[in-house]
Amino acid sequence: MPTPTDAKPAMPVIEFRDVEKQFDTKTVLKELNFTIERGERVTLIGPSGSGKTTILRLVMTLEGLTDGYIYIDGAPLVYEQRDGKRVPVSKRQQKLLTTRIGMVFQQFNLFPNMTVLENIIEAPIHVLGINKRDAIDRAHQLLEKVGLPDKTDAHPTALSGGQQQRVAIARALAMDPEILLLDEVTSALDPEVVVDVLQVLRDVAATTDVTMLIVTHEMSFARDVSHRVMMLDGGKIIESADPETIFTNPAKERTKKFLAAVLRDA
Ligand SMILES: Nc1ncnc2c1ncn2[C@@H]1O[C@H](COP(=O)(O)OP(=O)(O)OP(=O)(O)O)[C@@H](O)[C@H]1O
Ligand SMILES: [Mg+2]
Repeated sequence: MPTPTDAKPAMPVIEFRDVEKQFDTKTVLKELNFTIERGERVTLIGPSGSGKTTILRLVMTLEGLTDGYIYIDGAPLVYEQRDGKRVPVSKRQQKLLTTRIGMVFQQFNLFPNMTVLENIIEAPIHVLGINKRDAIDRAHQLLEKVGLPDKTDAHPTALSGGQQQRVAIARALAMDPEILLLDEVTSALDPEVVVDVLQVLRDVAATTDVTMLIVTHEMSFARDVSHRVMMLDGGKIIESADPETIFTNPAKERTKKFLAAVLRDA
């Protein structure tokens, strides 16, 4: 919490300012404004098509931004204002910022032609310039952390979905990200391995101060690890509160209905 002696409040680690996203002529996000503080873990919930994945993909710069601004640690990620005009930031600046952001996808997205170890050390060596020996040491530590110390030389195809997802988490952590984006990382998994993957993420939440923006239908996980839950509907945040409030006493009828449906299906 800020103290009265703090000269300047810290910049939010992520800020969306008047963000708009269209696909062709369809407006998916409109006038979207929110901030996420350093170390905060925020879960996005909301019906299918409400724009959750789009928000994460915008932060990862996997989608173009139709209007508005996104800031990472106060620095513009896609467009900036210069002389009253909205102009794209340099590729170099964008790359510097995205290097601090890691994403884990529903479908793992490991490189199929590389071993587990190669998957993990690739970006640290080629993007961060870490020397190979150090990258390998760190990869071993991370594989230990995600419970797969003996899978170093396996290829992704030889692993179960749950194992592949734990490798994908290790790969993201190997970049030592400030921000970790998680998009339904357990949705493609058999129910019995979901708990292993969630345990790894609970451990990451408990042992690091990485900022997390999470999309999940695992409501008990969301409740346990999130500082805040944002309910999205039709590309707008209709409610944002601590998990206790959202899950026990949401302000909006829409949130209540959504949660009732999700919890009924669970
Ligand atoms: N590449 C694309 N081209 C056209 N429309 C898209 C594209 N990606 C997403 N959309 C549309 O944008 C809207 C938001 O999609 P998004 O994937 O962000 O939703 P979501 O909240 O993640 O949904 P889900 O819970 O089903 O994953 C949807 O209407 C979707 O059809
Ligand atoms: Mg989605």
